[in-house]
Amino acid sequence: MDIEEHTYLRPELPRLIEQQVLDFGRIVWSDGFMPEDRYRDRMHEVSDDTTHFVRSAGSLLVSHVQVIPIELDGRDRPLVIGGVSSVMTYPPFRGEGHSSALLRRAAEHIEAKGLALGMLFCDPDTIPFYARLGWHRLEDRRVRVLEHPDDDDVVMVLGDDGLLPERISLEWSW
Ligand SMILES: CC(C)(COP(=O)(O)OP(=O)(O)OC[C@H]1O[C@@H](n2cnc3c(N)ncnc32)[C@H](O)[C@@H]1OP(=O)(O)O)[C@@H](O)C(=O)NCCC(=O)NCCS
Repeated sequence: MDIEEHTYLRPELPRLIEQQVLDFGRIVWSDGFMPEDRYRDRMHEVSDDTTHFVRSAGSLLVSHVQVIPIELDGRDRPLVIGGVSSVMTYPPFRGEGHSSALLRRAAEHIEAKGLALGMLFCDPDTIPFYARLGWHRLEDRRVRVLEHPDDDDVVMVLGDDGLLPERISLEWSW
């Protein structure tokens, strides 16, 4: 079967693909579904401009990355950044460059849409994976997420973090 690449805005994301993103997330990031969210069967709808980069074989999901436009207070002006999340490749397709290719598409999108920078949350284990694609780590404790302040996720940025204030408070992380 051929693996094809597609870009979807949130309202156009095929339901079967959305379901497979959720299925993966419920297993790999189960914290995000516990306890009150464990029946969640739709992805969060933050913005209709959320853009999904998908590699799929027919209706079978291979790899996925999304970019959510998020408004933040910048150092000296309001910013809209690209919140990157749900970076995943289903195990049989790993190591074939799918995520890297979709993350490059996401970076092009962030630039083309004039988003101030890209930002994502990840495990310390995946820092080298993102670093080889140009992302860099923000200092620990520069970002505080109010909904779970003790979380030890690393925050990584693509672009000029000088646009961001010294301390960034977010209601939620993505
Ligand atoms: C991380 C993940 C998205 C990579 O997907 P992928 O399509 O296999 O990635 P690619 O093929 O584009 O890149 C693979 C490269 O990344 C490296 N890599 C993969 N996972 C890595 C990790 N956790 N840490 C460091 N490097 C990693 C591989 O060694 C490989 O390097 P190479 O090209 O030098 O051989 C995939 O392993 C996955 O879905 N993991 C579980 C979910 C996850 O952790 N997502 C990231 C959330 S922040």
